Amino acid sequence: MKVIAAAGYGPLERMAQVEAPLPEPAGGEVRVRVVASALNPADYKVILGTMKFLHGRRRPLVVGYDFSGTVDAIGPAVTGVAPGDDVFGFLPYGPFNQQGAFAEALIAKCDAIAKKPASVPHERAAAAVTTGLTALQAIRDVGQLPATGRPQVLVTGVSGGVGSMAIAVAQRLGATVTAVGSGRGLEIARRLGAAAVIDRTKQSVPGHLSAQFDVVFDAAAAYRWREWRGALKPNGTYVTTLPSLAFVVDKFRSLLAGSRVGFVNVKSRATDLRLLASWLEDGLDVSVLSTIPVREVPAGLRRLKEGGGRIAVRVADGF
Ligand SMILES: NC(=O)c1ccc[n+]([C@@H]2O[C@H](COP(=O)([O-])OP(=O)(O)OC[C@H]3O[C@@H](n4cnc5c(N)ncnc54)[C@H](OP(=O)(O)O)[C@@H]3O)[C@@H](O)[C@H]2O)c1
Repeated sequence: MKVIAAAGYGPLERMAQVEAPLPEPAGGEVRVRVVASALNPADYKVILGTMKFLHGRRRPLVVGYDFSGTVDAIGPAVTGVAPGDDVFGFLPYGPFNQQGAFAEALIAKCDAIAKKPASVPHERAAAAVTTGLTALQAIRDVGQLPATGRPQVLVTGVSGGVGSMAIAVAQRLGATVTAVGSGRGLEIARRLGAAAVIDRTKQSVPGHLSAQFDVVFDAAAAYRWREWRGALKPNGTYVTTLPSLAFVVDKFRSLLAGSRVGFVNVKSRATDLRLLASWLEDGLDVSVLSTIPVREVPAGLRRLKEGGGRIAVRVADGF
């Protein structure tokens, strides 16, 4: 099969199309013919070698995490999916994952995918999947968003894939959203229905925001809990997307304070994917900046690195 791969860590431009063996599913696994994927910062962080731990080290390095496609083979003990089903999901981040979605096919565990609704195009499903589950698990689970009483959520990085999706997801969870972003992100936030929008390039953030938020979701991972603690309600939670030494220090300090600090590590859970599928079927707004063929992934990753935003990838007809 064809894949877009790098021979080793290095410049994005060295990624190229090569041939790789077609993988075979083992017990509990299915093979998915990938129709669409999407770009994530993890793709360039792995290829450039700045976050090698996000992926296995087998050469050639094939990255790409989000996928939407069609099951074409199943291993033993697979339940709930059959050849011909359209499914979507994402490959796990971590050193044990040796595969990527910038490939004609990949292997997925049958309990880590969900059926794609027929009315949702593959590109939209792929563009929503990591970002949607990261936002859901960050706000609902790590953030412990109250289930009632119109909770307040603040989201950063709203021109990015995770931040923009978090605006839509937080509202589906019943929250009122304040968005922090810049440029194009401010328009996205207004279109997605944020109740308040803060331009981080014109106003100091967090500035003088009062203790009004149940959850501050720092999708951009650009701030620290200690900066936001004054804006959190008692028992409110600051959630970041990247672990760091500063995060560990804040975690300890928060133990003596009235608010929490947490880190989201997204997991591909079928129950969450089914919830996302139902939202997508119901019109969940997915903010996609552009769609590129898979052969243009190196240039697309360069653009993502420079500016952020969601870029969908056509894989099946994109080599
Ligand atoms: N832990 C996990 O499980 C997990 C899962 C998925 C992604 N992630 C991580 O989450 C982060 C966001 O992902 P993404 O896909 O949304 O990335 P992205 O598309 O690159 O967006 C990042 C956004 O952050 C904002 N930003 C950039 N520099 C900033 C700064 N100096 N100060 C404040 N805001 C800044 C920008 O939005 P504005 O200009 O609108 O502010 C930018 O669009 C990445 O680091 C990614 O690796 C983690």
